[in-house]
Amino acid sequence: MKVPLLPGARDLWLPEEAGEIVSRLREELARRPPESWWAASLSGNGPIAELEARMARWLGIPFALAVPSGTMGLWIALRAAGVGPGDEVILSPYDWGAGVAAVCALGAQPVFADIHPETFTLDPESAARRVTGRTRALIATHLFGHPADLEGLIAVARAHGLALIEDAAQALGARYRGRLVGTWGDFGVFSLGVGKAINAGEGGIVVAREEDRYLAALQASQHPLRQRRHGLAENPFAFNGRMHPLAALLALLQFEGLEDRIARHRAVARAVSEALAALPGLRPPTEAPGCEHVFSHYSLSYQGAAWGGLPRDRAVAALQAAGIPIVEGPIRVPLPHRLGRPDPCPVAERRCAQEEVELALPRLTPEDPDFERWRTALVEAIERIHCRIVGGARGYPSTRRRLAFKAPLQ
Ligand SMILES: Cc1ncc(COP(=O)(O)O)c(C=O)c1O
Repeated sequence: MKVPLLPGARDLWLPEEAGEIVSRLREELARRPPESWWAASLSGNGPIAELEARMARWLGIPFALAVPSGTMGLWIALRAAGVGPGDEVILSPYDWGAGVAAVCALGAQPVFADIHPETFTLDPESAARRVTGRTRALIATHLFGHPADLEGLIAVARAHGLALIEDAAQALGARYRGRLVGTWGDFGVFSLGVGKAINAGEGGIVVAREEDRYLAALQASQHPLRQRRHGLAENPFAFNGRMHPLAALLALLQFEGLEDRIARHRAVARAVSEALAALPGLRPPTEAPGCEHVFSHYSLSYQGAAWGGLPRDRAVAALQAAGIPIVEGPIRVPLPHRLGRPDPCPVAERRCAQEEVELALPRLTPEDPDFERWRTALVEAIERIHCRIVGGARGYPSTRRRLAFKAPLQ
């Protein structure tokens, strides 16, 4: 059987059950008078307040602020943490550029520390070495949905009086020592953009445990109407960090079944990892002890030595030609390279240059017979290509497949 190609645009860009969400949105709009939601972003009432309350409850944290995007959420959190011109913020070189964009937009300087080789998240020891008298904050990204080493990073932040901002854009539902990520630092930032667990088209949420931090975020980003409602001294220069009320409604409609969707995707990812672990040359993503991954990206490690030294691009091309939905990336270039900065980050360099590959996982349940067929076809195709490249088929799991894959999927 042929391995299905990359999921279609529908799978990548729309939430599951998009049609159902749209019909519920129509019902909501018919039910709510326009004056109850149209201008809600100014006051923070209506669907904005509902989404904030829902998110705060879901996360088990007292304060949540709806914002237009994860990037804007990072800017707001940094601003509320007092980051400004001349300050330094330590972050990961192995990331998308949102944190760097937010740091630079405040006139501050991004400083890169290296990553952990297995979890790909900021390494606390490396971060500690980059602290200077100008450092104000750390951004810990829970990359691909794997929790960062929060204990280590909190210790660094405490030792040097730094704010810790969790970039949980990709990690809604991930847990560190049993507690949801985003709720550990001074601020947690989530994205509700395309491809995220809650996909409102665009959107973000900033959360905080301390009221003064929440109010500082609100004062930096919300309309004076709302600032006054909270008894704040009016900041007429607040940036527009307000969420569109229709995005808030779209987000609210996606809480139903959220835990199940996250759990199902995690189970699919773990079942794929179980199958791949038996193969040479493609190391599945790690879940560090005490961490629950959500696998927003299923990022593997290509191990060239096990492919006879074949460069990654050629192996990926061969795997793609066999129909496997695998790509080099998704990051490919460490952020310091893009900024022309010298910060040495050898682990991130190696990951980008040689190791990172991403596999697109199907939107199936692990119990679905189609998933088992997909997984079997995937393993057989990888074995076939690997065998063609390095020779010798002995010891591949397809010969022991029936045995190996009878293991429970969880
Ligand atoms: C790790 C990370 N941080 C921040 C962002 C920015 O979020 P947004 O696209 O909502 O601005 C993203 C978006 O994908 C992300 O993956």
